[in-house]
Amino acid sequence: MSNTFHRNLKQTVPVVVSGQGIYLTDAQGKRYIDACGGAAVACLGHSHPRITEAVHRQVDRLSYASTVFFTTSDAEALASHLAARSPGTLNWSFFASGGSEAIESAMKCARQYFVEIGQPQRQHFISRAQGYHGNTLGALSLSGIAVRRAPYLPILLPTTHHVSPCYAYRHQLPSESEEQFATRLADELEAKILEIGADKVIGFFAETVVGAALGCVPPVKTYFQKIRAVCDKYGVLLIIDEVMSGMGRTGPLFACEPEGIAPDILVMAKGLGGGYQPIGCMMVNARIHDALVNGSGQFVNGYTYTGHPLACAVALEVQKVIEEDYLLDNVKVRGAQLRARLEATVGQHPNVGNIRGRGLFQGIEFVADRASKTPFAPNQLINARIKAEAMQHGLLVYPTGGTADGVSGDHVILAPPYICTAQEIDEIADLFDATVNAVFAAL
Ligand SMILES: Cc1ncc(COP(=O)(O)O)c(C=O)c1O
Repeated sequence: MSNTFHRNLKQTVPVVVSGQGIYLTDAQGKRYIDACGGAAVACLGHSHPRITEAVHRQVDRLSYASTVFFTTSDAEALASHLAARSPGTLNWSFFASGGSEAIESAMKCARQYFVEIGQPQRQHFISRAQGYHGNTLGALSLSGIAVRRAPYLPILLPTTHHVSPCYAYRHQLPSESEEQFATRLADELEAKILEIGADKVIGFFAETVVGAALGCVPPVKTYFQKIRAVCDKYGVLLIIDEVMSGMGRTGPLFACEPEGIAPDILVMAKGLGGGYQPIGCMMVNARIHDALVNGSGQFVNGYTYTGHPLACAVALEVQKVIEEDYLLDNVKVRGAQLRARLEATVGQHPNVGNIRGRGLFQGIEFVADRASKTPFAPNQLINARIKAEAMQHGLLVYPTGGTADGVSGDHVILAPPYICTAQEIDEIADLFDATVNAVFAAL
């Protein structure tokens, strides 16, 4: 009997005992290629020597001090590192223990901003259907994964609203260009703001490249520029969630760089600490920072582990390794290789509807019928079967359902570590091909 309150209380999962490079090994000695880094977390793979050394070094020096009393050189150095590389004036970092906590912080900071500048009537948030922002109640209120919301619907925030995702595979009309599709979505956001009240909305939350909920769906051309313009027209804050897609996963350090916009608040987590420490971060721009400094002079939010020195020191080392080892170049080259290999292997499979993504962040959506894009029924558990079959093949891929409309649809994410070699990418693609063929042959 296990005394752990597991995610799945009816199914036993293997005990993992060690990790090395791109591999995890379970208690039976079975090795798995960690081709998704959990949920796109392990960007440097496992047991990276520079990071384990940094953990030891920091624990020997200082593992914890509360931000009620102190700051630390570790938090300061990580904040400076991020500020020097971030877009726009996102120069101030608030460190939390994970993505959800950082998203909650962003919601609160955005709300506090309007209280400080004398617009307390702004009480509403808008986000996108089939987006994911976390599992705490505020973050879940913003999220669109129906099954994760279902039991909690009556206790989610009534001040959250959803518009359509930027999901070209299913929503862009054949007659529309990317720009026209983007315009239609920006118009929908504007209509939603007006419906709620032109001066009632706090912020619009969106993932740059949608992760868990849609499986690595990038925005179409000009989408974020048009969204930024609508936000600016109504004084609404643009809050970008790069918890999954940020910190180099898609190629650039900040996934929104190619979109040519800077948000007011940016949130990241997974690739920040690479799984070596639990850490999330909310960065704010000068507009927010200055309003709070010139107003109450405090951010009315904090957690016991805010600015945790061990987490910050280790995350900084992760970021230094990414930069000093030129790993973002590898993300681009290996990402292109992975994409090409996926297209060449499963690309024409009758049950693979769409392959999309950027860098080492690639999503594969499964369909019952390619021509009509009809999804499988949820009870066919396609994404769970792919995950289980992949594990049989010694491969870890990240599965989610509800892709098509929040309920039906299946995809998996491949998000191998940035340190992957060409040979390892080929091996991942081959194992994935074998997995897909085995699952659909057995249906
Ligand atoms: C885009 C996005 N935002 C927020 C979160 C929540 O992060 P966490 O699970 O660390 O709380 C996730 C987690 O998958 C995510 O993918």
